[in-house]
Amino acid sequence: MDSIQQEFPLESNLYYLNHAAVAPWPKRTADAIAQFAHENCTQGATHYPKWMRVEHVLRRQLKTLLNAASTDEIALQKNTSEGLSAIAYGIDWKQGDSIVITDQEFPSNRIVWESLANKGVRLITAKLDNDTPTDSIIQACDESTRLVSISSVQYGTGVRADLKQIGQHCNQHNILFCVDAIQSLGILPMDVQDIGCDFVVADAHKWMLGPEGIAVFYVKKSVINQLSLQQYGWHMIENPGNYDTQEWDVAKSARRFECGSPNMLGIHGFSASLSLLLEIGIDNVENMLQNKIDLLLELLRSKDGISILSPTEKDQRAGIVTFTSDKIDSVTLHQQLMKQNVICAYRGGGVRFSPHFYTPDGVLVNATKLIP
Ligand SMILES: Cc1ncc(COP(=O)(O)O)c(C=O)c1O
Repeated sequence: MDSIQQEFPLESNLYYLNHAAVAPWPKRTADAIAQFAHENCTQGATHYPKWMRVEHVLRRQLKTLLNAASTDEIALQKNTSEGLSAIAYGIDWKQGDSIVITDQEFPSNRIVWESLANKGVRLITAKLDNDTPTDSIIQACDESTRLVSISSVQYGTGVRADLKQIGQHCNQHNILFCVDAIQSLGILPMDVQDIGCDFVVADAHKWMLGPEGIAVFYVKKSVINQLSLQQYGWHMIENPGNYDTQEWDVAKSARRFECGSPNMLGIHGFSASLSLLLEIGIDNVENMLQNKIDLLLELLRSKDGISILSPTEKDQRAGIVTFTSDKIDSVTLHQQLMKQNVICAYRGGGVRFSPHFYTPDGVLVNATKLIP
């Protein structure tokens, strides 16, 4: 545990409970980025092939994290929204097609689908029943549904759907299935082959502890050709190093979704962060985080007037605990906590605490003491 704490030298007066927003970087990530900056400053890109090896390592790490069949299914993009846009504008929509999302989605997984209205694509918004979210989503699908796009864990309420069951429904009904996994990748095991999803999108900066602006975009091999391309450049062709020829073919792999120069800075940071999570093992990360959530729930329940809005059952929750207090409205409570260095968010109708596996118990104890 000591070695884990050394990876997170957060200031001791800070109670950081905001991993569902933007996570602090582990020390090794800060070191990798500092080292990369120093190398750029003193040697420029002299050792570019070494940087490319880090890029390959990152693709392999992401393949492992998702249990993808091959790194050919992994593209590196800027953020979750970019991946969702590649899907939204890559599918050959027919008038009357529908897309199913939920009424709790973060705006990136709503706005992009709303933008397709002028193509005659209908958006069906499933009203999530927090106790049976999976049923709400499946029941919202009909014969016109071409795509289901949902968050693995809802950003405000922390509600978690059963991805495997939804995947089965989608596969049986020839519906494409997209998972915005930003609120679970890094803390819950994910197996795209078992779930049977077609797309996964997630930026690095939450539970995966990476920098902002570098994201994974998983596209199942069998559907790569179903997306028409919206961005072109030197990097998305089969032989990107061959600048002399006028001939080009689109890359067969998901690299076709990466139009130009890679975000090498983000790649170095993201890979360092994932190396920590994969060394510990996602199952262990999940167990350690769930112990923190147990403690947090116990501390909150021991206070008068607290209502927990997020799911409390182990198999229905991830890293998000959202609550209200009878004694104080949530906006004011959030502001008061922030002033006292409890870094948290106002989301989903309450105050959202989101610790990570390494969060010291003392942080949870002290932060909850500050709730009136
Ligand atoms: C569910 C969900 N999707 C997406 C995002 C962010 O999207 P992007 O990576 O495009 O900034 C967030 C950020 O809070 C989120 O909670």
